[in-house]
Amino acid sequence: MIEVENLRKDYLVKGAKEGIFSRGKQKKRAVSDINFTIHPGELVGYIGPNGAGKSTTIKMLTGILLPDGGTVRIDGLDPFHQRKQNCRNMGVLFGQRSQLWWHLRLDDTYRLLKHLYEIPDQQYKARLSTLREILELDEFWQQPVRQLSLGQRMRGELAAALLHNPSYLYLDEPTVGMDVLVKERIRELLGEINRRDGVTILLTTHDLEDVERLCSRVMVINHGNLLYDGTMAELRRRCPADSSVTIDIDGEPSLPDSLRNVKREGNRVSFNFSRHMGEGELLAKVISQNHVRDISITEPPIEDVVRDLYEGGEAK
Ligand SMILES: Nc1ncnc2c1ncn2[C@@H]1O[C@H](COP(=O)(O)OP(=O)(O)OP(=O)(O)O)[C@@H](O)[C@H]1O
Ligand SMILES: [Mg+2]
Repeated sequence: MIEVENLRKDYLVKGAKEGIFSRGKQKKRAVSDINFTIHPGELVGYIGPNGAGKSTTIKMLTGILLPDGGTVRIDGLDPFHQRKQNCRNMGVLFGQRSQLWWHLRLDDTYRLLKHLYEIPDQQYKARLSTLREILELDEFWQQPVRQLSLGQRMRGELAAALLHNPSYLYLDEPTVGMDVLVKERIRELLGEINRRDGVTILLTTHDLEDVERLCSRVMVINHGNLLYDGTMAELRRRCPADSSVTIDIDGEPSLPDSLRNVKREGNRVSFNFSRHMGEGELLAKVISQNHVRDISITEPPIEDVVRDLYEGGEAK
């Protein structure tokens, strides 16, 4: 279980210059007293605009950074002070920065990791052959990391993060810069690792499709504050953006007077409605007053939902 209580991180940054004088170092709060719990087997999306505090949070969860306030416990361990113990149980991938040795061939990379993690022979062989197969590493198996394409390297990185069979996987933008096919493959894999092996995954991404496809739970951070923690469905429900509906009706459509901006093409009517404003009732009225042959509802794009949250989330 990942338990985060009042977690805070401040960075010291150079102050703005006043004339020729620098105002010295200033404290900048990157993560501001956040709280959450992630249970074993969950796959949680962690989203927020650039500079929101996502990577800083991941660095504190993985023991790379020491918090300035609050606590992190991973199955009761303090990831910074009990780093070695914690590392045995976690895999981490930073999409923006390679964790692999640049000049080492991929096969040698895993051999080295086997020794670092002291993975027993048999376990190593079995694990590696599974990862090699599902991540399709064969075609570049003996190439040095520096020669791999971005998508190939990311598959290699994922295998490296999973080699020692960790229970927790932290992914900081794993699909950044990938083509749609590789993205899809990585998504499938993450879903499989989560379902089949019960690996708990925290996934940071700017690709909201990653979150929609994979995560039932999402946390939104902005200016270091946690703005939302809940299901994707609830996030959508809160959204003031409009859904649009198209209804095919048998016979002459009978529409309530309060319905505005209706488009009609023969027996097909379409209009926008906001679930947020309780306009779902209007839709119910149209359905009850007519003989409906077909209906299709298009939800607002998740980008609209999230944009509202990002824009509203000023620092406290
Ligand atoms: N080493 C550092 N020194 C000073 N400030 C930092 C440092 N690392 C991050 N920051 C600042 O802390 C804030 C949070 O940064 P962080 O990297 O956690 O954001 P992020 O949510 O991961 O953003 P992105 O989506 O761009 O990766 C930003 O304002 C950033 O400028
Ligand atoms: Mg980041």
